[in-house]
Amino acid sequence: MARYAYVNGRYVDHREASVHIEDRGYQLADGVYEVVGVRGGKLIDEGPHIDRLDRSLRELRIGWPVSRNTLGFIIRELMRRNRLHDGLVYMQVTRGVARRDHAFPTTPVKPALVLTTKNTKHIVADTGPGVAVKSQPDIRWGRCDIKTVALLPNVLAKQAARESGAYEAWLVDGKGCVTEGASTNAWIVTGEGELVTRQTDNGILAGITRHTLRSICDSLQLKLVERPFTLAEAKKAKEAFITSATSFVTPVVKIDGDPVGDGKVGDMARRLREEYVRFSETGEAVT
Ligand code: PDD
Repeated sequence: MARYAYVNGRYVDHREASVHIEDRGYQLADGVYEVVGVRGGKLIDEGPHIDRLDRSLRELRIGWPVSRNTLGFIIRELMRRNRLHDGLVYMQVTRGVARRDHAFPTTPVKPALVLTTKNTKHIVADTGPGVAVKSQPDIRWGRCDIKTVALLPNVLAKQAARESGAYEAWLVDGKGCVTEGASTNAWIVTGEGELVTRQTDNGILAGITRHTLRSICDSLQLKLVERPFTLAEAKKAKEAFITSATSFVTPVVKIDGDPVGDGKVGDMARRLREEYVRFSETGEAVT
C-alpha cells in the first residue's frame, strides 16, 4: 500500500515527498512541529496539541499555513489514506521558502506545511520491564516551551543515552535539577508517595500527556507537586517515569545504571499507565 505524506497542499507518495532547499526549516530550523498520538483510529488530545501548535507559531510570529479547520481535515484525510489505526501524526510548519538570511523575509512568504503519519504497535496497559535513563547536561536554549524543530541538543542527548544502552536522556540544568527528557517529561514518586514533576515555564515543553496525567492524578486524589527535583533526589526516589504522546506513561527503573527504588516497575507508574491507556481509548480523564 502506498504511504502518503502531505506537502504544501498535495498528498504525495511518502518516498517522493520533498521540500525546497531554501525552506527556512531546512536551513535555519525556523519552524515548529507537533506529534499527536492515534489509538484505534482516533486522535489523542487533538485540541490541546493544536492549541500548543498555535502557541508555538505565535511565539515565533509564523502564520498559520491553512485554517485550523482545514488542518483538521488534512490530518483526517492523511490518516484515512494511510489507514492509520495505531501510531502518530507528525505535523510541521516552517516560516516558508526564502533566500537565505537570518532575519525574517521582508516580502510575504507562505508558511510551509508538512504532515506524515507513522504506524506503531498498539500500546498496551502492561508496562513491560521499564526503561533506563542516562543523565546529560541540558545545553538547550532559553525557550524550551516552544516546540521547535531545532532539536540538536535533544538529538545529541538521546544518542548519548542510546549508546550507553539507555532508552532516554534526562537533561540536567546548572543547578543539578532534571528539567525533562530529550523527548519526554520527567516524573518521580517520593518515599512519601508524592508525585513530583517540574513546573512548566520556559525551561521545559508543557507536555500534553503531562497535562492530561495531571487531571488523572487529580481525579484519583493523588498528591502532585510541581517543582524542580535534583538528579540526586531522582536517584533516591521510590519510582520514576516519563510521559509523552508516543511513550504514554513509561516507568523508569534505572538512572545512570543505578536502580530506582527496588529496580522494578512501581505501583504508581503501573496504575497511571493503565489510567492513561484508558483515557486514550475513551477520551475521559476522570474515572
Ligand atoms: N516529544 N518534552 C520534550 C522535549 C518533547 O519533545 C516532548 C514530546 C515532550 C512530551 O510532550 P507531549 O506529552 O505533548 O508529547 C516533553 C514528541 C513526542 C517528539 O518530539 O516526538
